[in-house]
Amino acid sequence: MTRPSQTVITAAQNASLRLADRQTPFVMNDWYVAAFGEEIQNQLLARTLLGRRLVFYRTTEGRVVALEDRCPHRSMPLSAGMLEHDTIVCGYHGFRFNTEGDCIEVPSQANCPKNVGIKTYRTHERGPVVWIWMGDAEQADLSKLPAQDWMEEADWACSQGYLSLKANYVRLHENLLDLTHLSYLHAKSFGTPDYAKAAFETEISDGQFALLRNVVPTTLPPVWGIPTGLTGQGQAARIVRSEFRSLGLHEVSVTFYDCHLPEGGRPQFRIRTAHMPTPETATTTHYFLVHGRDFAQDDPATTRFMHDQLFVAFQEDVDGLALQEQVLANTPAEDLYEFSVAADAPAVAMRRYVLDRQQKEAKA
Ligand code: FES
Ligand SMILES: [Fe+2]
Repeated sequence: MTRPSQTVITAAQNASLRLADRQTPFVMNDWYVAAFGEEIQNQLLARTLLGRRLVFYRTTEGRVVALEDRCPHRSMPLSAGMLEHDTIVCGYHGFRFNTEGDCIEVPSQANCPKNVGIKTYRTHERGPVVWIWMGDAEQADLSKLPAQDWMEEADWACSQGYLSLKANYVRLHENLLDLTHLSYLHAKSFGTPDYAKAAFETEISDGQFALLRNVVPTTLPPVWGIPTGLTGQGQAARIVRSEFRSLGLHEVSVTFYDCHLPEGGRPQFRIRTAHMPTPETATTTHYFLVHGRDFAQDDPATTRFMHDQLFVAFQEDVDGLALQEQVLANTPAEDLYEFSVAADAPAVAMRRYVLDRQQKEAKA
């Protein structure tokens, strides 16, 4: 074999049409991470988000400004200009723009034309990240931003990082809702052989998709075993919740404990990871990550060890998804079909939801 019959292939292709993929236009009306706050300083930062070129800077008062990165005079990127007293001076003919995107000075003439300017975007800085709303500004409601209080709480020790993903963001969300790949794609990092076969539960509702997996007993890989001290064979419980919380945030929460100790008398070790994908183009994604733990908070060596080990694993996802993207790009449409299995249910539901969101947005 065996390629399935054409009837089966056509049925699989039709089923895929109901799922968001690299062809699906971006959903604009949502919060996405634009940058880590520390990246935006008193200088111009160019970044493409959701297919749009933007320029960012921080005012002398500390406010983040996000503007369209295009001079309306002759389309020079404003990011190639200069930041001067909280305004941008275009590097081509010197037109000046304020924080509201209004053109306020044209050096070649005394009077500046009125009502000429560029688009501004609403941003919201929270904890280590700057969120952006790129769709209809009237719908930019902060209640639509999922809570991530732990990133700001002192009893969570956090580290952060960024990966450049050469793949569509939907496939990253899919990867995060699929923990069966840990035993294979992450066999050399944080996957263990028992993981893919462990029983799981799913929670699927409109816009919220979660995968819950209790791996008990298990042997922890070094990234968790060493910092928790749970290094024995079959010593640990690994309780995982992986949840799509919005288009811009997927959160993984894990609790570890010694499964041979009685309930109530065993320390619990919790970690959380915020995976924050922001589409750059249809086939590239900014992948922002914040990782936290609620133990050994004052130990920078533990922070460094876990961060380094985790980023080896996250890089495995990035490398795997990039390979997948290349295959998708190089497979003729008539030959391309994918089939799903039971463990894909949360990811399939999420991809239906994303397509539905986009289609509703296009109709509105
Ligand atoms: S292109 Fe910007 S001032 Fe002319
Ligand atoms: Fe992964």
